[in-house]
Amino acid sequence: MIDVFRQIYGSAHGVRVFRAPGRVNLIGEHTDYNLGFVLPVALDLATYVATAPSSDAQLRIYSEQRNESAEWPVAEIAALTPRRHWTDYCIGVAQELIRAGSALEPANLVVRSTVPEGSGLSSSAALEVSTALALLGGRRMAPLELARLCQRAERNFVGMPCGIMDQYISLFGEEHAAICIDCRSLKHQVVRLPEGTAFVAVNTMVKHELAGSAYKERTEQCAAAVDVVRRRYPRVESLRDVSPAIFEETESSMEPLIARRARHVVTEDARVIEFVAACREGAVERMGELFEASHRSLQHDYEVSCDELDFLVDAALGLEGVYGARMTGGGFGGCTVNMMRPDAVAHFEREIPRLYQERFGIQPHIYPVRPSWGGEEEKNLERIPAPAQLSS
Ligand code: GLA
Repeated sequence: MIDVFRQIYGSAHGVRVFRAPGRVNLIGEHTDYNLGFVLPVALDLATYVATAPSSDAQLRIYSEQRNESAEWPVAEIAALTPRRHWTDYCIGVAQELIRAGSALEPANLVVRSTVPEGSGLSSSAALEVSTALALLGGRRMAPLELARLCQRAERNFVGMPCGIMDQYISLFGEEHAAICIDCRSLKHQVVRLPEGTAFVAVNTMVKHELAGSAYKERTEQCAAAVDVVRRRYPRVESLRDVSPAIFEETESSMEPLIARRARHVVTEDARVIEFVAACREGAVERMGELFEASHRSLQHDYEVSCDELDFLVDAALGLEGVYGARMTGGGFGGCTVNMMRPDAVAHFEREIPRLYQERFGIQPHIYPVRPSWGGEEEKNLERIPAPAQLSS
């Protein structure tokens, strides 16, 4: 990567590299913007940003994957507007840094990523966090502040009204563990995954158009449900505050569609709590059941799944040694996450591509879920994967 940097910018003097991982969410889908619970794992798939000061007043970014460069005078960055381009994530972060009082220094950047785009493994947050770390260039900012800053970049500049999960896990990921985030208090607990389980993500290789608009619509529907509950319980701020008992009591006052959306969120929060407890007890069968229940709720109540995801889940559940399967991330394509016995992985990795190919004529990509650490400076340059290993 340093060689690439030298080729693009003529010198790699003073270059530093910052890394931020993608993620797979084990359970707790569409609960983060309702201030509930999520249980993501940071992956060993990550985005790397190499940076060195530039001698003029420009900010330059080169994406290796796209073989594409962009540049701006640093003085003009605060006033830029989005252009529906991958650099929006970087400029959004740069603007939020300026807003947070952090001076933007002229710099040259190279971006390399092994997080497949559009896969629901959070390539956007990985790009935001790695860019933010690179633009800070080693200047310290509390990780929680940085996670929130990157979330604001995505909400304000990119225009995606996301929750905090992806940016948070990209900074707070732990090796060998998932983390359970309380999206209200913004605190987390480290959750070790039980022995005798393997997690594998499968990429449908599709991303349906609906994804962006439906996400916003779901956030509005959740707010509408809260409005109904508040008529009886004025202190309720979000669906996080709605217990199953309160939901049952108020459900009939909601429009049926709104009630289904709310039921997903209320039951999903409860599933996260139960999943974490089952994880700690090593109750693997129960964990698998909760995976499936989560998927069915996303499929039928929240309606963010699609044929490809449903097919992969059903196919996985039919295989020997699989405890559970569900869609992960925002939905409408992207990945499933599957929980199985370690000795079932080889068969799973043979059968799933065969079945999916037969049904949709597409070869799905498979990624082992190897929990890895959160974003930071990558001092061991040997660890940066070569472009040949890039999966896109
Ligand atoms: C996307 C968003 C997250 C979260 C998930 C769904 O990944 O960026 O904030 O809402 O969808 O759980």
